[in-house]
This record gives sequence, C-alpha cells and structure tokens, in this order.
Amino acid sequence: MVKICCIGAGYVGGPTMAVIALKCPEIQVAVVDISVPRISAWNSDTLPIYEPGLDEVVKKCRGKNLLFSSDVEKYVSEADIVFVSVNTPTKTQGLGAGKAADLTYWESAARMIADVSKSNKIVVEKSTVPVKTAEAIEKILTHNSKGINFQILSNPEFLAEGTAIQDLFEPDRVLIGGRETPEGQKAIKALRDVYAHWVPVDRIICTNLWSAELSKLAANAFLAQRISSVNAMSALCEATGADVSQVSHAVGKDTRIGPKFLNASVGFGGSCFQKDILNLVYICECNGLPEVANYWKQVIKVNDYQKTRFVNRIVSSMFNTVSGKKIAILGFAFKKDTGDTRETPAIDVCKGLLGDKAMLSIYDPQVSEEQIQRDLSMNKFDWDHPVHLQRTSPSSMKQVSVVWDAYAATKDAHGICILTEWDEFKTLDYQKIYDNMQKPAFVFDGRNIVDVAKLREIGFIVYSIGKPLDEWLKDMPAVA
Ligand code: NAD
Ligand code: UGA
Repeated sequence: MVKICCIGAGYVGGPTMAVIALKCPEIQVAVVDISVPRISAWNSDTLPIYEPGLDEVVKKCRGKNLLFSSDVEKYVSEADIVFVSVNTPTKTQGLGAGKAADLTYWESAARMIADVSKSNKIVVEKSTVPVKTAEAIEKILTHNSKGINFQILSNPEFLAEGTAIQDLFEPDRVLIGGRETPEGQKAIKALRDVYAHWVPVDRIICTNLWSAELSKLAANAFLAQRISSVNAMSALCEATGADVSQVSHAVGKDTRIGPKFLNASVGFGGSCFQKDILNLVYICECNGLPEVANYWKQVIKVNDYQKTRFVNRIVSSMFNTVSGKKIAILGFAFKKDTGDTRETPAIDVCKGLLGDKAMLSIYDPQVSEEQIQRDLSMNKFDWDHPVHLQRTSPSSMKQVSVVWDAYAATKDAHGICILTEWDEFKTLDYQKIYDNMQKPAFVFDGRNIVDVAKLREIGFIVYSIGKPLDEWLKDMPAVA
C-alpha cells in the first residue's frame, strides 16, 4: 500500500490531502504539523480553516485512510511520498528582506526528512518556492542521505481559498516537474498515478523541475496583473465617467482575454499574490533583469495605490476628516467564503482610517475579534510566521470594536465600507440601516456589490469603485 505523508497541515496541506484520501481509498494519507493546536483542530469537529465542502470530505476519510498527527518524524519515516506544504513567507530580515522567500521552514523540513528516512522517498514540493529550490533541497537530502535515494518533484498547488474543494476535485491542470533522468521520470509517473485516480490524464502536465517551479510564480503574477490592470482602469473610469463593470464586460468578451478575474476591487489580498510577485521580482533582480523586475513590481504598486485611493476617497468625501467618526467595516477576510485575513486589503484600509482617528466597528461572518485585533497591531509580513515570532505593537485598538452583526456595526455610523464581497451584504435591509445612521450617510463599496441606484434613492451618498461618481464626490480630490 502506498503511504503519503504531508508536512504542513495548513490551507493547502489539509484540503489537498483530504481530497487525495477521498479519491484514493487504497492510499494511506498522514498530514503532520509542528503546531499541536492545529492538529487538534483537524481531529475535532471544528476544523482549523473554513472552506466550503471541506468538513464533508474530512469526515468521510478521517479515521479510515486519513489521519492528522503532530508526530512528524514517525509518519515521514514511514512514507513513500512526502509532500512538503509548509509556509514560505517573505523574508523580514537580512539579505532580500521584504522580497525574497524565507525558506527556513522548508529547509528545516528537508533536514528532518534526511534525518529520519530509512527508505527511498519521493519528496514533493507543494509549497510555492523560488525557482531552483529543488536543487537546494536535493543537496540537503543527498548530502545527508545515508545511501537513501530521494527524488524531488515540484507539484505546485493552484487552488484558491473559498473554492478549494471544487478546485481540487476538478483542477484546470495538475503540474508535475521532475528530473529528466529515468529515476526522475519514474517518480513523475508515481505521482501522476495518484492524481490519475480522478484527474483526466490530459490535464496532468509534466515538465522539468524549473518550469514547474516558475510556472507557479508566473500563474500568480498573471492573475494579480489582471486585477491591477482592471483596478488601474477603475481610476480612469472614475475620472472620465466610464463604468468599470461595463468596460470589464466589453473587454472580457474578447475570447483571447476572457471574462474571469476582471472584477475591480479595493485591491487584491491573500497570502500569496504579493508574496509570490515579490519573490519573482527578487529572482529577476538576482538574475540581472531589472527591467523585468520593475515590470512585475508595478502590479504591487497599483494594488497599494488602489487601497490608498480608497481610503482617501472616504476621508475626502467626509469633509476631509474621519476623526471621531464611527465607520462600519463590513467584511475583513481577503475574499468571501474564507476566514483567512492574510494580506487582506481590510488591514490597510482600517489602518489608513485609524491613522485619521476614525472609530471602527468591524463585522465579518468568519473572522474572530482576536484575529482582527492581532492583524491591526502586527507588522507587515509578520503574519506568516509562528505566533510567538509575531511582534505586535501595544495598539490604539480602543478605536476598534468587533461586532457580530452588520446592523450593530452600522448603527449610528457616519459611513459604511464594504471590504469583502460576502453574499449577505447584498441583501441587507439598507433602508433600516440608513434610518439608524448619522446623516449624511455614506457607503463606500470596495467590492461593487450594492445596487448603487437603489441606495442613492434611499438617501445614501454612494462611492463604488470605478463607477460614475456621485454628485457629492465629483469635486473631491480622488488621491492625496
Ligand atoms: P499555512 O501557514 O496555512 O500552513 C503551513 C503549515 O506548515 C503551518 O501549519 C505550519 O505550522 C506548518 N509547518 C511549518 N514548518 C513546519 C515543519 N518544519 N514541520 C511541520 N510543519 C511545519 O500555509 P498555506 O496557506 O497552506 O501555504 C503553504 C504553501 O502553499 C505556501 O508556500 C503557499 O505559498 C502555497 N500555496 C498556498 C495557497 C493558499 O491558497 N493558501 C494556494 C497555493 C499555494
Ligand atoms: C490565488 C490563486 O487564484 C490560486 O490559483 C493560487 O493557488 C493561490 O492564489 C495561491 O497561490 O495562494 P486566492 O488568493 O486564494 O488564490 O484567491 P483569489 O480568488 O485568487 O483572490 C485573490 C484576491 O484577488 C482576493 O482578495 C480577491 O478578492 C481579489 N480579486 C480576485 C479581485 O479583486 N478581483 C478579481 O476579479 C478576482
């Protein structure tokens, strides 16, 4: 019986292994992690991450061919295939700080594999890593191998949070990169056989190691670039009276461009887009390609500009100050259907408003008060490190309250910011909300989900990204 072990029980390791266990009943899958609370949560009724459909998959396999354990060494030593799905954050200190990937967690996992292995293994890079990481990992493993054969494969993950299970069930493609040697090809086949249990073989792409590693960074960069492109257009739409939704629709109808991923927003968030582009930029710089590096850097600059622009719109619309004013923040997660707040644009928007001394009342259906307080008092990039390494500042968080209902958040507020596109925000009773707010009452829709005409009819002053401006906003400066 084939035995798989995955190091890292996070957003990728947990769901991916649960789906492999479901689709391959004859394979034993162990998911291990150094975080004991995380493993306990995977073994409980309240899984550590919120992901539609995940509970059902885990319930079907856990205790049969799927287990979660903090006994990392035992399950790694027994496995034939070891996936490594640990975090690969942006470095915060030293060479490449603020750009390069921090491979501390990866390297310690690789050294541990070398230490505990007693039989040949296929080691699979599941984490997103810089190009040529496999070479470094290979060196660590072979220099400590005690005669054991390790084959390294790159098998980057393309799932998106909120749709992870669906993405894993029906992936657009599975990418496997390996050495172009007979042993490398044999390892590729072994992993391809796992996925072939449910993925059509024409969707399983096999490449060399470096192409697989780079394709993952490239795919995220291309996706983020689309969002920055449409967000750049949204600023021009506001300046000209065009409507960004109409522009996106018209542009996306070109089959060469396609309609997906063209929604203007307050900015992209999530644990990976920024991190992976910074990593790409660093690799370009290290390879003497400053023009290429600058090209990709611009995707992040536009994203930062979009968040700043949004905050400036709010402040300038509300008589150039939000000091002491109650602002309701609807949505804190980086997108709907997840409780994940890593790099959420809500952090930058809230910090911008707090900088102008606003009083924030925050509501998100999936994010806890503790998480929000931690996010707002943490330094940039620290979120992707273990909790004991996260330096939080003693905060001015008296300005922040977290409530469990959109109506409580908006009561007596001067303005509302919609920062996550949760479905429930589309169907709120906005008349009731308006009646309970200070006047003039403002709505700043960072996700373009409200019916602007209807809200204006109620009496709100509405700003919606990239849409023709409210009369009120027309003479206000758009950016600082
Ligand atoms: P995560 O932080 O949710 O999970 C990583 C886990 O690894 C943590 O639970 C941590 O405790 C554990 N870990 C770290 N070092 C360890 C070690 N030495 N031994 C055992 N466990 C260890 O991260 P994630 O979101 O699952 O991302 C993992 C990787 O996958 C990253 O490289 C990321 O870029 C990539 N990725 C993420 C997504 C996503 O949607 N989150 C999608 C595709 C790819
Ligand atoms: C993204 C990619 O979509 C995955 O393929 C990839 O595996 C993953 O990153 C990763 O490597 O971590 P994810 O970040 O989970 O997945 O979610 P997305 O749906 O890509 O959304 C990212 C951000 O872009 C969100 O803040 C979302 O609101 C925003 N977005 C997305 C827009 O602003 N407009 C759009 O049209 C689409």
